[in-house]
Amino acid sequence: MEECIRMQKIVKRYESGNRKNRNVTEALRGVSLCISKGEFVAVTGRSGCGKSTLLNIMGGMDRQTSGEYLFFGKKVGGMNARALARFRNQSIGFVFQAFYLAKELNAVDNAAMPLGYAHVKNRERKRRAEEALNAVGLGGKLRAYPAQLSGGEQQRVAIARAIINHPGVLLADEPTGNLDQENGQKIMDLLHQLHRDGMTIVMVTHDLALAGQADRILYMEDGMQKM
Ligand SMILES: Nc1ncnc2c1ncn2[C@@H]1O[C@H](COP(=O)(O)OP(=O)(O)O)[C@@H](O)[C@H]1O
Ligand SMILES: [Mg+2]
Repeated sequence: MEECIRMQKIVKRYESGNRKNRNVTEALRGVSLCISKGEFVAVTGRSGCGKSTLLNIMGGMDRQTSGEYLFFGKKVGGMNARALARFRNQSIGFVFQAFYLAKELNAVDNAAMPLGYAHVKNRERKRRAEEALNAVGLGGKLRAYPAQLSGGEQQRVAIARAIINHPGVLLADEPTGNLDQENGQKIMDLLHQLHRDGMTIVMVTHDLALAGQADRILYMEDGMQKM
């Protein structure tokens, strides 16, 4: 199996306060892991154990304090701002618990956001957004605004937005956390479908029943992976 993500002794420290009153939180205390291309991995563990911190570093949204993060053998920590922005936009799709859709945009325009305005013509933006929305089962609600959609449907729009540039990797941080069980399972079914189509998926959840549906579970505890 081709290696996709490798982390070696990843440490993440958050420092706050001033010189007199220093506050250091070690969110990750030396995480080492390897994820193969095409795997579906669930990350689980108690609130505050570092799951989101880990996922944010994987997605290039945050940088580690020390240790090495390799994406298909390339050091993400060594990328300059421009390369990192490109990595986030092209190589990774990210889905959040809270969807983060723009209220004033309909489903098509929300899904098209990562395409940018400069390089992709309007007609092509719409075509690709509609294709992504069809892929997540929302072909019938292309012009709906977030307020007109259920939570599960809003998360589908967010997933369409995440996959519009055809990234190889989808990172999802508690993607079902705001949904009831039935809608949560529908989002899981969609992740399974994307996985079958070849995507590498890393999903954070504290729902063990959902975690159990992945190929592999990574348990975290207090900034470390449990063996
Ligand atoms: N931006 C931040 N500044 C300071 N501390 C943070 C920040 N983000 C997270 N933390 C701390 O790092 C630890 C891990 O947080 P997080 O990765 O969000 O955990 P989880 O997602 O597993 O609930 C927690 O103690 C949290 O309070
Ligand atoms: Mg979290």
